[in-house]
Amino acid sequence: MKKLLTIVLALMLVLGMTVNASALTVAFSQIGQESDWRTANTDDVCGAVEAEGWTLVYDDAQQKQENQVKALRNFISQGVDYILFTGVVSSGWDEVLKEVNEAEIPLILLDRIPDCADQIDYVAAFGGDFVEEGRRMAYWTANYVEKLGRSAEELNVVILEGTTGSDAAIGRAKGIAEVLEDYPNLKVVASQTGNFSRAEAQPVMESFLKSLDKIDVLLAHNDDMALGAIEIIKNAGLVPGKDIIIVGCDAPKTAFDAILAGEMNATIECTPLYSRFVVQTIKELEEGKEFDKTVIHPEEGCFDAEGGIVYSADGRVSEKAADVIADRKY
Ligand code: AHR
Repeated sequence: MKKLLTIVLALMLVLGMTVNASALTVAFSQIGQESDWRTANTDDVCGAVEAEGWTLVYDDAQQKQENQVKALRNFISQGVDYILFTGVVSSGWDEVLKEVNEAEIPLILLDRIPDCADQIDYVAAFGGDFVEEGRRMAYWTANYVEKLGRSAEELNVVILEGTTGSDAAIGRAKGIAEVLEDYPNLKVVASQTGNFSRAEAQPVMESFLKSLDKIDVLLAHNDDMALGAIEIIKNAGLVPGKDIIIVGCDAPKTAFDAILAGEMNATIECTPLYSRFVVQTIKELEEGKEFDKTVIHPEEGCFDAEGGIVYSADGRVSEKAADVIADRKY
């Protein structure tokens, strides 16, 4: 009898937890849909929340900070159970995120981390190491140039920057600049925003090509901008990947295709696949686990045509795009 009671109690506990977990409402304030990366990120996170049977409240802010502020306030008034947040720009979130804290809604930071992160409470944070990604773009380029036997040549570098004021653009710019200081032959001759979008990068690339006599290297803060620029480079009668070395960031399948076609030289990985962290974190929080207030950066690689190029200060070596494309999830 006692044994039966224990089994029934255990079952009730399990059922009770299942009922609670499936009643969760998870809200996601997304920046917009400016890139292949962002689409993959939205699909991954939203899909996983729904697959858990949780109610998803999703808001696409269309690249506007004021829309994100409104969305966060809506989430608060709806009394959601969790808020997932990535900010279009880095600053200006203090007030609204404090309101989230006052409402005692657990906040999970994803992708871009706001600059007020130290002053607010969040239960977990998973984001790209953008400074390191920038460093890797520059390291890969310097080592590739060396492999080509062009280290002694002065090479003109142009940069397509991401959204002005965003964590990702600030970090990547910083990382690139830091490493290029050690390679004076790689000279940045122009740097302008393309807002992480193919369409917006194209007129910028066009104006670079018109105003500069020679461009040897393009560093694009994301692959969408690199892919947009490739079209413009071709229209100008140049051969992308040969006349201009092109390095991007994100590593979606579209960039792999360009690498395999010989039109792009390398991509530094920045994963959009945060759902594995989000789902596990929410489940563990529901079970009472507490997380440290630190930002976790996923493991990321670098892909190019041949493999074997060192792309980081700690000696990591690029992989061949052809070897991994079949298993790419985005
Ligand atoms: O914050 C991540 C960046 O945002 C990705 O590199 C870019 O493609 C996206 O739009």
